[in-house]
Amino acid sequence: MGPAALRIAGLKKKIEIQGYKVRDIGDLFVPVRDSLSQEIQDEKFLQPLTQICEDLCGKTHNAVQSGNIPLVVGGDHSIAIGTISGIAKHHKEQGGELGVVWVDAHADINTPDSSPSGNIHGMPLATLMGDGHPELCKIGGDGPKLKPENVALIGIRTIDDDEKRVLKASGVNYYSMRDIDERGMFRVMKEAIEKVSANTKALHVSFDIDGIDPRYAPGVSTPVSGGLTLREAHLLLEMLYETKKLGSLEFVELNPYTDVGAQSANLTVDLILSALGKSIV
Ligand code: ARG
Ligand code: MN
Ligand code: MN
Ligand code: MN
Repeated sequence: MGPAALRIAGLKKKIEIQGYKVRDIGDLFVPVRDSLSQEIQDEKFLQPLTQICEDLCGKTHNAVQSGNIPLVVGGDHSIAIGTISGIAKHHKEQGGELGVVWVDAHADINTPDSSPSGNIHGMPLATLMGDGHPELCKIGGDGPKLKPENVALIGIRTIDDDEKRVLKASGVNYYSMRDIDERGMFRVMKEAIEKVSANTKALHVSFDIDGIDPRYAPGVSTPVSGGLTLREAHLLLEMLYETKKLGSLEFVELNPYTDVGAQSANLTVDLILSALGKSIV
């Protein structure tokens, strides 16, 4: 439903007005949830998610290899496993590394052992760093896709108890809402960009809409109050664009079912435009 709402909100047209050529390659095949067996549902959809992420990995790999900018819209944050595996594979082939700015209310760094829910959308960051379900970790080739020092988590404000230990031990750069309160988004992003740019050829943004405060973006499945303001979210993306290293984008977790009208869909389109270079003046 998320991608459909973004299409209706005029995503393609608005990016074209920004001066880009846009090709919508359509939706990935995703089976209907209720058609899946109880066993698959009990396994938290690991098997269909693996297939979807393998498909997506091939598509983002193709896109970056042919010099295009993949824009992936979701969908659950599990899809970041496919998106980033494909992009990281390309950079590995080129002998370079990928930097990632991950915007989220959650840290998404649970492992199968630390996760209280077992939900794979709580594990994509750990999976991409090589600690997760083996069938997901090997998408796009064996070995970790991301180095912790090349990752910055921004906007986090709810982390499971065991997940806190995983986060602290991981070596990932993280900036909680407390850091943004104290230092402001501008200084936080300056530092985050420095860290994820230091050893990398290109940057990717993985933007979970629930990173934004629910008063601006109610259309998510797991809202958490005390999040980013509209202006902070735009500033973050404008600063990423200005690095001239942003080569791929992903916006996830938009849920039109919980949205108020099309508020969150319209906001997501506006944020994507900021990431693609739209400025106020
Ligand atoms: N930490 C929780 C979990 O592991 C919530 C993760 C929420 N992630 C999301 N993409 N909504 O289950
Ligand atoms: Mn999710
Ligand atoms: Mn997330
Ligand atoms: Mn989240």
